[in-house]
Amino acid sequence: MKVLGIESTAHTLGIGIVDEDKVYANTRDMFEPEEGGIHPRKAAEHHYQHALELINNVQQKAGLEIEDMDAVAFSQGPGLPQCLDVGAVIARSLSKKHGIPLVGVNHCLSHISIGTRTTAAENPTTLYISGGNSQILDFRSGRYRVIGETLDIALGNALDKLARKLDYPHPGGPEIEKLAEETDKIIELSYPIKGMDFSFSGLTTETERKIGDVSDNILANSFQEYAYSAVVEALERAMAQEGSKQALLTGGVAMNSRLREMVEKMCEQRDAEAYFPPPEFCMDNGAMIAHQGLIELKAGKNTSISESAKKPNWRPDEVQVNWI
Ligand code: ATP
Ligand code: FE2
Repeated sequence: MKVLGIESTAHTLGIGIVDEDKVYANTRDMFEPEEGGIHPRKAAEHHYQHALELINNVQQKAGLEIEDMDAVAFSQGPGLPQCLDVGAVIARSLSKKHGIPLVGVNHCLSHISIGTRTTAAENPTTLYISGGNSQILDFRSGRYRVIGETLDIALGNALDKLARKLDYPHPGGPEIEKLAEETDKIIELSYPIKGMDFSFSGLTTETERKIGDVSDNILANSFQEYAYSAVVEALERAMAQEGSKQALLTGGVAMNSRLREMVEKMCEQRDAEAYFPPPEFCMDNGAMIAHQGLIELKAGKNTSISESAKKPNWRPDEVQVNWI
């Protein structure tokens, strides 16, 4: 079965086509703000402007037409409302026009599903960290339980904010990573872990207050060490609690090499396996939405137009999972 997936929760408009064995196409166009963070309306305008071109591009790359699809899937939430509307409108239109089923999927669960599809992980404890979300999830009795999560902002968002204060462009994560690689030195900062949860707002402010007094590369390295240690410690506790022998890292921040190194080391010490999806499947992408749509379609899902409204605050633990 072939499914076209549309991702539009935030700054990335992504469109992909997959079947059970193959990713036929996975293309994206990212909204890059001229200054500041992501302005929701401007990001949505960007998505509307590039949608048609991207859909044509994907069909050409895949050598397939929309008529060849068994369903069209879209990110129904969570995300920025204006951006979610774009994906939902395009998906509804394609579904109606071509008479194919519509499948609205949860964006967070798609990050996990593409992670297990593209690695050998089977039932991992997942550390999902991106610009909008930071959670530790474990699958138990028909649901992905959120075992730990950020109490305020997401880790990717914190990296983007810090980078902006240091005058680097969006997205800030890779910029902070490059800066951090210039030094081994760190300064003392607060360690933002609270039980199984973590928080990054205070750590970001504390780091920003030292700009000018401490060099940028030491600040970047210190921020990475403290923030990444906190999430890896929480991940380790979650694995101990769940008796898990597999860790999966996903979301945009999962592309960070220092974080990967920390997760790898922690797993090695616990005699567990660490799994990292290829970068193009860590960041927001259309193939992960297509894949999630595919497995839910096969489990019988068909979203009616009246059920297809955006869900900006849709938590992954609200979803009753029937595809595993
Ligand atoms: P979600 O909707 O799942 O919250 P998102 O909209 O934030 O996703 P992603 O592509 O999953 O989109 O993640 C983007 C985030 O990843 C940004 O905050 C960016 O700074 C961060 N990021 C990208 N590359 C790196 C890296 N190498 N190191 C750290 N962070 C990174
Ligand atoms: Fe995402």
